[in-house]
Amino acid sequence: MRKKIIAANWKMNMTQSEAADFVATFLLEIGESTEVEVVILPPFTAIAAVNGALDQAQHIKVGAQNMHWERSGAFTGEISPAMLRDLFVRYVVLGHSERRTLFGETDEIVNRKVRAAHEAMLRPIVCVGETLEQRERGDVEKVLGTQLRGGLARLGAKELHETVIAYEPVWAIGTGKTATAEQAQEAHAFIRRTLGEISDDATADKIRIQYGGSVKPDNARTLMTQPDIDGALVGGASLDPRSFAQIVQGAQEE
Ligand code: 13P
Repeated sequence: MRKKIIAANWKMNMTQSEAADFVATFLLEIGESTEVEVVILPPFTAIAAVNGALDQAQHIKVGAQNMHWERSGAFTGEISPAMLRDLFVRYVVLGHSERRTLFGETDEIVNRKVRAAHEAMLRPIVCVGETLEQRERGDVEKVLGTQLRGGLARLGAKELHETVIAYEPVWAIGTGKTATAEQAQEAHAFIRRTLGEISDDATADKIRIQYGGSVKPDNARTLMTQPDIDGALVGGASLDPRSFAQIVQGAQEE
């Protein structure tokens, strides 16, 4: 059984005090344990504040939204895997569509980061997804296949097992247009088949695949009932502790 993983991608939002307030309210809503894995992905500058506010709450994990692949050096403005480890970070989002389109990240760059994450014992959440134009052209499988094979190149079965994939159709991000449960399931099943080709079916069966793109409390449950959807990567709705808690609770009912 794959344990569901629900993550809050705060993007470029939340000061330290806002982050601490979020955690305080979220913990009250969610209680002392969860059946699903919960990850908060603050901007770098609020990671320490989230850690501080979580205090003994070990059931919530902390992640980052990006990193550089090198260990250290002359890379002004970048953050290394070791720096994230130093902040007790467990997960790191890599290849988000906003990084691909706004900051020029290619599959090769994503792959360097994914391999660096595993070397540093960080678990990558690797994002893939097609644009509306690519979907309308009938290129969904081609795009996802290229992103998966490029981004996950040269990973062993153990590393693949410890990688989370996030299917985020670009047309559904921040638009209020969620993929239907059937559209998402179809893409997730294709991703799992491709993971089987990249490694083997037994490994592919263990890899968790999150859905992301306008996930809200009222659509999360239906998405989570699909056989190949193993969690959610939530943007906008994760900025409100109550709505994020409702999404987590919806996933637990499955
Ligand atoms: P929204 O939930 O705001 O659509 O964002 C999705 C996303 O990009 C999460 O990484």
